Amino acid sequence: MNGAASHETRSQPNGTPKGSAIVRRTNRFDPNFTQHVIDTTGPKTSPRIRKVMASLIQHIHDFARENEVTVDEWMAGVEFINEAGRMSNDVRNEGQLVCDVIGLESLVDEITYKLVSEADSAPTATAILGPFWRADAPRRDMGATIVQNIPDGDHTFIQGIVKDYLTGEPIEGAELDVWHTAPNGLYEQQENQVEHNLRGRFTTGKDGRYSFYCLRPISYPIPDDGPAGKLLKLLDRHPMRPAHIHFIVSAPKYKPIVTQVFDRRDEHLANDSVFAVKDSLIVDFLPREGDPKAQFELAYDFRLATFEDAKKYSLVGPTEEKASQSTVDGNGSRNEQALNMIGAKE
Ligand SMILES: [Fe+2]
Repeated sequence: MNGAASHETRSQPNGTPKGSAIVRRTNRFDPNFTQHVIDTTGPKTSPRIRKVMASLIQHIHDFARENEVTVDEWMAGVEFINEAGRMSNDVRNEGQLVCDVIGLESLVDEITYKLVSEADSAPTATAILGPFWRADAPRRDMGATIVQNIPDGDHTFIQGIVKDYLTGEPIEGAELDVWHTAPNGLYEQQENQVEHNLRGRFTTGKDGRYSFYCLRPISYPIPDDGPAGKLLKLLDRHPMRPAHIHFIVSAPKYKPIVTQVFDRRDEHLANDSVFAVKDSLIVDFLPREGDPKAQFELAYDFRLATFEDAKKYSLVGPTEEKASQSTVDGNGSRNEQALNMIGAKE
């Protein structure tokens, strides 16, 4: 077959002089252009924005050159981003979902919470927030259920202790913010469920203990009727997430953690569509005896680091000030609070 263009000698585009072979080298483009764009940044720009944007411009220009991105391809990308924006609202975050399917949220989670110490013990591992958290989940009594109007499903009792990861001491006044899907795989804001169904906040007493009833989680597909779904299809991938329950655990003076626990028996543990599974977050739901309200149970302790210890052991993450901003009730948009929670906002 003689039509295949080699890496070095591709067919000639319009306007190319006859006989001149195109050599595919990124350095055949204007060598000064990218630096010129970066240098237009003004003197009032903050050091962090200056650094991050210079890097972003450099990488995205290199990406365009290396892949010889055409105008049509770039416009397809622009339309993809615009569509994600149009689809996003108070109850759906398509931009975040697109980041999730390319592993970006999980990578940023790893970077944000990296433990560089060689401590014997470590705080509970973190996992992505995901697009379905709500800042205004109701406070519920310890031991109550978060399940409303759902007779089906495997009702489950979860209990444990929130403790200091170094001393093992229980933490009083720790708050657990928990949420998961209904048996049909949908979060309450995705359909007509009772408002705040399958989510709630619990506060520990002196013994640091928590307990509540929920459902044993099931695996579910992330919404694939938008750009994130299109991307998955382009990449020949499935949209499934392994069964999980989301938690944000916070306490005064402690660095909050955003995490998920995963059911060991789920078939999608090794191929989570958003790459969030960590070994230490895989749990065993056991049969529960003698409780008419639940068929399964789970015991799971959460280990938090104080801001002081986190600093000492180089745990990167949200500052104390940002964490406290994220736990105020009601005020500010959900996205704003989420950004504060993960320490990503300036
Ligand atoms: Fe989820």
